[in-house]
Amino acid sequence: MKRVAILISGSGSNMVALVDSMTGDHPARPVLVLSNVPGAGGLEKAAARGVPTTIVDHKPFGKDREAFEAALQAELERAAPDILCLAGFMRVLTPGFVNRWAGRMLNIHPSLLPKYRGLNTHARALEAEDSEAGCSVHEVTAELDGGPILGQARVPILPGDTAETLAARVLPVEHRLYPAVLRRYAQGDRAPVMLG
Ligand code: GAR
Repeated sequence: MKRVAILISGSGSNMVALVDSMTGDHPARPVLVLSNVPGAGGLEKAAARGVPTTIVDHKPFGKDREAFEAALQAELERAAPDILCLAGFMRVLTPGFVNRWAGRMLNIHPSLLPKYRGLNTHARALEAEDSEAGCSVHEVTAELDGGPILGQARVPILPGDTAETLAARVLPVEHRLYPAVLRRYAQGDRAPVMLG
């Protein structure tokens, strides 16, 4: 059984989709949900599912990313995960941390990578008058939102869409894509999952 730690900063809807998928014959189980934001809505949802939670607030560390990551690393080592899933975790990680978890860390990003790395992905897709949008799960490397793609799901962009309506169309497909990729990845299969 593979041990999975999930890092969140917010509502944790992707975390919930991942946790709820890890039952039965799934090759992995959740061992920790960690938030860098003390009040993150996802913490209660994880606790309600019986998953241990912890908080490593980035704020007391100021600009010292390495000290923050040392605290993160200490919590992770106690949970001893085989796989780290970033799920709406909104901190950029340094190459030192990323390299320590190389080949064991996934992220979900709300765009069809390599388009729109970084923030405000849906607004940028609308601005570019794209006809479709979506999400990607990728391995995390030192390049921001740049690692090998493990899965993508597409949705149409419709007339009158705003960043909010588009986000609301993409989020449910994130919830299908991320569990599908994790299941495959936990079996050691890195062939991309393509949905839609
Ligand atoms: C999701 O849409 C995820 O793709 C995005 O944040 C949201 C988190 O929602 N991630 C990023 O933008 C990463 N740069 P959730 O907390 O409900 O899963």
